[in-house]
Amino acid sequence: MEKMWAGRSLGATEKIADELNSSIGFDARLYKEDITGSIAHAKMLSKQGIITEEEKDQIVEGLGKILSGIDDGSIKIDPTAEDIHMFVESVLTEMIGEAGKKVHTARSRNDQVALDMRLYLREQCDIAVSLIKDVIAAVCAKAEEYKECIMPGYTHLQRAQPILFSHEILTYAHMLERDIDRFTETKKRMDVSPIGCCALAGTTYDTDREYEAELLGFPHIALNSLDGVSDRDFCCDFIYDCAMLMMHLSRFSEELILFSSWEFGFIELPEAFTTGSSIMPQKKNPDMAELTRGKTGRVYGDLMGLLTTLKGIPLAYNKDMQEDKEAVFDALDSAFLCLKVFAPMVAGIKAKPEVMLSAAKKGFINATDLADYMVGRGMAFRDAYHISGRLVHDCIEKGIVLEDVSIEDYKKYSPLIGEDVYEAIDLTNCVQKRLSAGGTSVESVETQLDHFRRILS
Ligand code: ARG
Repeated sequence: MEKMWAGRSLGATEKIADELNSSIGFDARLYKEDITGSIAHAKMLSKQGIITEEEKDQIVEGLGKILSGIDDGSIKIDPTAEDIHMFVESVLTEMIGEAGKKVHTARSRNDQVALDMRLYLREQCDIAVSLIKDVIAAVCAKAEEYKECIMPGYTHLQRAQPILFSHEILTYAHMLERDIDRFTETKKRMDVSPIGCCALAGTTYDTDREYEAELLGFPHIALNSLDGVSDRDFCCDFIYDCAMLMMHLSRFSEELILFSSWEFGFIELPEAFTTGSSIMPQKKNPDMAELTRGKTGRVYGDLMGLLTTLKGIPLAYNKDMQEDKEAVFDALDSAFLCLKVFAPMVAGIKAKPEVMLSAAKKGFINATDLADYMVGRGMAFRDAYHISGRLVHDCIEKGIVLEDVSIEDYKKYSPLIGEDVYEAIDLTNCVQKRLSAGGTSVESVETQLDHFRRILS
């Protein structure tokens, strides 16, 4: 394709240089935003008398045709074009002639690309929120389904205290809620129009940036033209949000992988989201969870990559900044794909309450409750802690659990212990007594489910 910027340079660029320079391979996905921006720009130009009303009408009509043409496939994006902005302008000029050459008056590709990215990511923030909500809904449905199912809670991956499976998985809904907040904030912060900043210094034309921003739904305009064209904070914000989200999905994945293993056997993942082995017929591998965990590293890489690209470039626009797109798109595609897998994968999880309960019965996870019981009878916590510890030690030697110790034996450790000790260390009671706000009781799970119902509605 002929270079529209053949101004000073008359000689042709090397093919290999074009290959490095071209961004159409990845910025083609901005065509809708590019066209939307150009339509608003033409309207502003005509309102200000910079182009005529007829020229504006021709431009708007032509751009509308290009949009539907790309949408329905009748216009193919030329892979030899330098970027999407040049492509759209050249098709427009081919289509409508002279007026097409005027659409780029009082703007530059520098403010144009900054605008396109903001328009694009603003919408992607909304999509992120809705995809995250789908996962939260699936988590809540699972929590509801297995509301009273008891499992061992872990610290250091050692059995610690009894908890509800519902309480455990709702943790991920809270993480995801914070992700929603982050994408919402990011969208708000990027809602600033850079268009009209032009190449770097603004323009001598009598433009109306406020009007153009309003047409595009931006509540603010960039107040410094250099900042307008060189700011990519919003791209970093967006990738950071993806990275944080991926970290959450990755932790979730890790538990799905562990808990679905033969060693734990707490849950079973739906067949549609697992794979077999080409050699071991018995295998059911949690590939989707592993890939999510794996892609997390890649999204972190996108963030580090862009931050590093930006750190040394002077004002204002530099071509380095073209690198923002692949980082943003890769982070977005990876995160969204994982979210789309997670919602149905979580929905299809089958929990195995009997296995969880039997694991909960081993490991002395009611030892804290035994100590708390003695505290209730007047003993100081530290003394009770030591007695409970000694009981655990002796039980391990005998190969029994706290529930097996006879009342006579209990009394040897402390005369304060009575028959009601068995009730105090019963696992269901242990969970139900954790009524402190945010604890693992059914009541607290219900409070959380109410909270998420409000967010989802
Ligand atoms: N393809 C470029 C990018 O994505 C568009 C801006 C080009 N500006 C320029 N002065 N060469 O950054």
